[in-house]
Amino acid sequence: MSASLATAAYIGATILFILSLGGLSSPATSRRGNIYGMIGMTIAVLATVFGPRVSMAGLPWIMVAMLVGGSVGLIAARTVKMTQMPELVALMHSLVGLAACLVGFANYIDPVAAANLTSAEKAIHEIEIYIGILIGAITFSGSLIAFGKLSAKIGGKPLLLPGRHVMNLTGLLVVIYFGGVFMHAESVSAGMIALAVMTVIALLFGIHMVMAIGGADMPVVVSMLNSYSGWAAAATGFMLNNDLLIVIGALVGSSGAILSYIMCRAMNRNFISVIAGGFGTGGGKAPAAKGDAQPAGEVVSISAVETAELLRESKNVVIVPGYGMAVAQAQHTVYEIAQYLREHGVNVRFGIHPVAGRMPGHMNVLLAEARVPYDIVMEMDEVNADFPDTDVTLVIGANDIVNPAAQEDPNSPIAGMPVLEVWKAKTSIVMKRSMASGYAGVDNPLFYKENNRMLFGDAKKMLEEVFVALKS
Ligand code: TAP
Repeated sequence: MSASLATAAYIGATILFILSLGGLSSPATSRRGNIYGMIGMTIAVLATVFGPRVSMAGLPWIMVAMLVGGSVGLIAARTVKMTQMPELVALMHSLVGLAACLVGFANYIDPVAAANLTSAEKAIHEIEIYIGILIGAITFSGSLIAFGKLSAKIGGKPLLLPGRHVMNLTGLLVVIYFGGVFMHAESVSAGMIALAVMTVIALLFGIHMVMAIGGADMPVVVSMLNSYSGWAAAATGFMLNNDLLIVIGALVGSSGAILSYIMCRAMNRNFISVIAGGFGTGGGKAPAAKGDAQPAGEVVSISAVETAELLRESKNVVIVPGYGMAVAQAQHTVYEIAQYLREHGVNVRFGIHPVAGRMPGHMNVLLAEARVPYDIVMEMDEVNADFPDTDVTLVIGANDIVNPAAQEDPNSPIAGMPVLEVWKAKTSIVMKRSMASGYAGVDNPLFYKENNRMLFGDAKKMLEEVFVALKS
């Protein structure tokens, strides 16, 4: 493939990636967005592999690597459960970080890469290598720890070492010092020592940063690492002189940062302290293990038949799904109930919290899979004002995202987190199996409110019973 054809292909791929991101911003266009992304990536890979910078001798190696990597990716994507998605994403980010490190080291020892460079160009090349390895190493180790925490291989409790901020600052100063040593190194072997020291510090910093973060704050960290992996890819692009990698890395880096910002707002966290690392631990309590919170009041139970009666008599119903709906795989039954009620003149809508479930867009994906029409799926801000005019809110396996303590109790660990105000409806019905707490490990005063009813049981089983009662 000629250089000009490869450049044209890169421009086409870049446009497709931008269209892909645009498509992914709304559930209605997300499928199209994914397809744009897949075509863009295929073009990018083909233009790179068959482009002017890959020799024929290297092709078999690349093919073998692609076959192995592609097979692992395919198996992982096919076997991973939806609730394990954040872990898989964290693992993928670690690979991007590792790649940035390896490319950086390879680039530094490659005599061809720095040949024919002026001293200014050489300095820029070395800065790219140093920063690329730095971001890559932080992303690599941080993502591995995030994977460990999300898959419960490492405990969710934040690790708060004494003087950790001083340690981080010292690490930063040492990294800057060795950056100077690296830039002034007389030989590759001398530069390698500085690079190696910096890499070890960066790896330790990545571990320390994520270890210091509480379990409930992990989604923001995964999104931040997503952003870091984008910047690591962009740095790799600079090292390899690959414009496409620079653009795509910047797109991933900035979209990850924007997503982190949105999630921080949804969980009432401070974005700046996330970037600095070790966030969510300052004044907040470590999340208690599931079920640790002590119930604080009396609850009123309701049966599936009574729930069906209430729904049948309603004019306005808002369904709020949460993590439990995903666990129970109840989305199809939810859709059948919503469809049935709509056919009988009830105005049914879904209220989605930005961090409902365990990953961004978790509920949207499940509802889309069940073919719930997009126009009745509302975001939290769209639906919150409507609760006072709602007859019944059906909370399906959600807990933290409907916890009034976020608004009513300034001492609550989730104080200030925006929540769906389901208790403002005439009646709220919470479907869950027990009185156990949600992800944040805090008790939920909603359960004890006068207008709240508890429908205990597995969400899918109970919804099936409600559906049978509705139809009879
Ligand atoms: P949670 O607060 O975790 O509550 C889920 C509830 O579902 C639990 O109280 C559980 O109670 C119930 N449940 C579990 N299995 C069930 C089943 N089979 N049938 C019925 N109910 C079941 O979930 P949420 O309200 O969706 O809030 C999400 C939480 O996760 C937030 O704290 C958020 O910060 C955090 N988080 C979010 C993300 C993203 S990006 N979305 C990622 C990681 C963490 P029982 O055990 O009593 O049934």
